[in-house]
Amino acid sequence: MDEMVHVLSHPLLQHKLSILRREDTGVKDFREVVSEIATLMCYEATRDLPTQEVEIQTPVAKAKVKVLAGKKLAIVPVLRAGLGMVDGILTLIPSAKVGHIGLYRDPQTHEPVEYYCKMPDDIEQRDVIILDPMLATGGSASAAIQFMKNYGCKHIKLMNIIAAPEGVERVRKDHPDVEIYLAAIDEKLNDHAYIVPGLGDAGDRIFGTK
Ligand code: PRP
Ligand code: URA
Repeated sequence: MDEMVHVLSHPLLQHKLSILRREDTGVKDFREVVSEIATLMCYEATRDLPTQEVEIQTPVAKAKVKVLAGKKLAIVPVLRAGLGMVDGILTLIPSAKVGHIGLYRDPQTHEPVEYYCKMPDDIEQRDVIILDPMLATGGSASAAIQFMKNYGCKHIKLMNIIAAPEGVERVRKDHPDVEIYLAAIDEKLNDHAYIVPGLGDAGDRIFGTK
């Protein structure tokens, strides 16, 4: 993989991912761990945020300290499953605005179908992190990124928990400017375009449907 694809190997992240993969993990634990993983991934995905030096007064003396500078952030979950990652990101960046994109995969064609979109007014001025636990064929992620580009967003990152090689390749080809943050790249897609070994249907496991 190239330098635009970050596969995060932190032991805490990998341990939590093993919990998600287990078929006997119930909805409560699944939901909590998705959120915790999003927090850990957020720490890495924001490593390059610019800072600026300002002078403050401590109880003891004046000090030069670093604070965040540059553009403000928006996070954009892809409904439904991306919603499971929102609170974990807001834990670290509580002032981030949240846009929503509704996409589902047509079960026959595996192509993404749009059904909802609502963005903050100033979205084009914000750096964007798109959230979705699963990057399978890459169709949904590629469409979501194109959406944000159509809104005028210039700096877009994609955060997924598990990817298939096919999905990473698709996003790299369609959007070579977008950095991708992942906890794992799995073996392959099966005949139903599910990630193998993966974790099953992320939306169903987060919301307890099926
Ligand atoms: C899942 C997942 C991604 C998409 C990935 O959503 O959360 O959005 O599939 O597949 P792709 O890379 O092949 O496009 P799904 O369509 O199951 O909708 P849901 O989140 O509402 O369950
Ligand atoms: N969407 C999921 O939720 N899981 C997969 O393995 C593929 C697409």
